[in-house]
Amino acid sequence: MATTARYDGVSRFLHWLIVALVAAQFVLGWTMPEVHRDTKPVGLIAWHIVAGTSLLAVMLCRILWRLTHPAPMIEIARPLRVLSALTQLALYGLLLIVPLLGWINASSRGWPVTLAYAIPLPALAASGSSFGHAMGDVHGVLAWVLFALICLHVAGALTHLFVFRDRVVQRMAPWS
Ligand code: HEM
Repeated sequence: MATTARYDGVSRFLHWLIVALVAAQFVLGWTMPEVHRDTKPVGLIAWHIVAGTSLLAVMLCRILWRLTHPAPMIEIARPLRVLSALTQLALYGLLLIVPLLGWINASSRGWPVTLAYAIPLPALAASGSSFGHAMGDVHGVLAWVLFALICLHVAGALTHLFVFRDRVVQRMAPWS
């Protein structure tokens, strides 16, 4: 039987903020105009960049918070605990790597990258760099891997909710 100890309010807030930002990133990434050599970073592309750097900043806060505030103990079967821990670790990794690759690609196109349109961020690749250009393709592929992992994560949550009928999902519920 699973325990019901919940995540603290800050962890829950950061989790759901990241869900909203990641959802926005997929919608923007898949609907914005195709990027070519002479494309300008305006409209949906500009929104994709600004939401992406915000996501990266929130992820850094979340990692710092998680390192200083461990997850509450949970009593579930060991194989499930291992699967869940590995999925979460991969999610954390990809939620850092995917935005960083997007940033590298934007820099290689000579596009300015800012945090919230206010704080200019440094270029992570030289303008015109072929490495930065290639990282745009890796960014798109890893976004799909991230999407698959999110589906696995959600499937796990739904299994707890409707099959095991334990209170694992309630630990991260946004309401108090
Ligand atoms: C978790 C965060 C992010 C997700 C899920 C995401 C997702 C995506 C997706 C799905 C695409 C379309 C790929 C394709 O059509 O093959 C894309 C393209 C792109 N993204 Fe992101 N993105 C994220 C963060 C960022 C950030 C932070 C930046 C820049 C600072 C960025 C810059 C770009 C650029 C420049 C492209 C066009 C790449 C190209 O076509 O060469 N992305 N992104």
